[in-house]
Amino acid sequence: MAQRHEAADSFDLFPTPPWATRALCEFIGVDRDLKRRRAWEPACGLGHMVRPLSEYFEMVYASDAVNYGHGAVRDFLFPGDEPAFDWIITNPPFRLAEEFAHTMIDRASEGAAILVRTAFLESVGRYDSLFSKRKPTAILQFSERVPMHKGRLEPNGSTATAYCWIVWETRPHRPCANGVPAFVWIPPCRRKLERPADYEVAA
Ligand SMILES: C[S@@+](CC[C@H](N)C(=O)[O-])C[C@H]1O[C@@H](n2cnc3c(N)ncnc32)[C@H](O)[C@@H]1O
Repeated sequence: MAQRHEAADSFDLFPTPPWATRALCEFIGVDRDLKRRRAWEPACGLGHMVRPLSEYFEMVYASDAVNYGHGAVRDFLFPGDEPAFDWIITNPPFRLAEEFAHTMIDRASEGAAILVRTAFLESVGRYDSLFSKRKPTAILQFSERVPMHKGRLEPNGSTATAYCWIVWETRPHRPCANGVPAFVWIPPCRRKLERPADYEVAA
């Protein structure tokens, strides 16, 4: 079983199975035409989110602090001169996930979404500094496990860790009732959203 315990100076490369990114796009694409939106994947790693995002969005810009050969090389937490993007979407390095969330919300013109361990939702510190101040629009909890392994995708992998997407609509189409985030279970979807080519080494 994979577990994520990373050294403080690790870049935390845990590639995301593409079907998990398609699950997010299916949700946010319900009431908007993603083919007319531009997205930024700011911690792109080996490109495993960039490919499924490109299936849904008009264009996807990819970057990472490390040069893995799959996008521009830049530290997302330092201001850059990128143009505005409608959506900023990533599976951030876990120890920097909160800083990523703030930066993504500040910079996305329509919405931001992070894929995190569900345990990220708890902690008084995070409540005080993030969730109470910048309330998510939706929390999408996977009903299936999303296996993630250090440095590689594993088609037959398993994990003891639960994951969810946290979504902030920075320009809401449909403001959530009374400012209460929607809590949505992502129904089993791996079988429907997975493609054999997902596990080929990213080109
Ligand atoms: C959990 S992996 C996710 C990779 C990719 N988003 C995916 O889902 O397959 C986290 C990524 O964050 C990158 N990273 C770590 N610190 C960063 C920073 N300050 N700015 C940009 N990328 C960073 C790592 O190099 C690594 O590729």
